[in-house]
Amino acid sequence: MSHHYVNIKDLTFTYSDGNIALENINMYITHGESVAILGSNGAGKSTLLKHLNGTLLSDKGEINIGGIPVTKKTLKKIRETVGIVFQNTDNQLFMPTVYENVAFGPKNLGVDGEQLKSIVELALKDTGTIHLLQKHPFRLSGGEKRKVCIASVIACSPEILVFDEPTAEVDPKGIKDIVNILKKFHHTKIISTHNLKFASAVCKRGVVLKHGKIIFDGQMEDIINNTELLREAEILDDY
Ligand SMILES: Nc1ncnc2c1ncn2[C@@H]1O[C@H](COP(=O)(O)OP(=O)(O)OP(=O)(O)O)[C@@H](O)[C@H]1O
Ligand SMILES: [Mg+2]
Repeated sequence: MSHHYVNIKDLTFTYSDGNIALENINMYITHGESVAILGSNGAGKSTLLKHLNGTLLSDKGEINIGGIPVTKKTLKKIRETVGIVFQNTDNQLFMPTVYENVAFGPKNLGVDGEQLKSIVELALKDTGTIHLLQKHPFRLSGGEKRKVCIASVIACSPEILVFDEPTAEVDPKGIKDIVNILKKFHHTKIISTHNLKFASAVCKRGVVLKHGKIIFDGQMEDIINNTELLREAEILDDY
């Protein structure tokens, strides 16, 4: 089961405007681990997650997924292995109905007929969006869009799930559904979130970023009980 590890070595990434968003990131995630990526706005969470399926590619450092380096040449294979729900949902909803949007990924992987129908319906049921199946994605609320994006990714059964702010705009019942989905998923999970309660419910390990650098990598319980660390990372909930 060790073939779906994630190994990030010395990753540094600078945006074209000169903004250094990630600096010297090193992280090894074993198959089956669930890891929360924490940090304030602009800390570098989304930039890091976008490197996991090659949406962003850096020439400084390396990312290896189960023995396959993430490069332009390996993108197809990497994207079959790593399923990402991006923070910005609009780019992920491009088909005219919710149903077709969720069916798109598994269809591309060769699933069809009754099997496709049951996979799509299960993903819609698990995310509480089955009643929306004929709706145009542009006519959904913010939270509904996010749930449909999650359904689209879980319908592909990736070996590694990457969720960027999955609870943003989602109501408590929806968050509970997402927790249940993640608890049923026994492969690797990497989740960025501002919701520490949610992070603790689904992840054992947490990585805290600040200004593009890792300032802590350890157990979630050691993060939530460390007021100094939370304050330093500007994620302390004390308003
Ligand atoms: N396209 C871009 N061009 C230039 N700079 C960018 C771009 N996207 C993000 N950045 C910058 O990179 C840094 C990291 O941004 P990133 O989106 O990774 O943060 P984040 O931790 O995901 O924040 P949030 O909690 O707001 O989602 C920020 O300083 C941001 O302004
Ligand atoms: Mg982000």
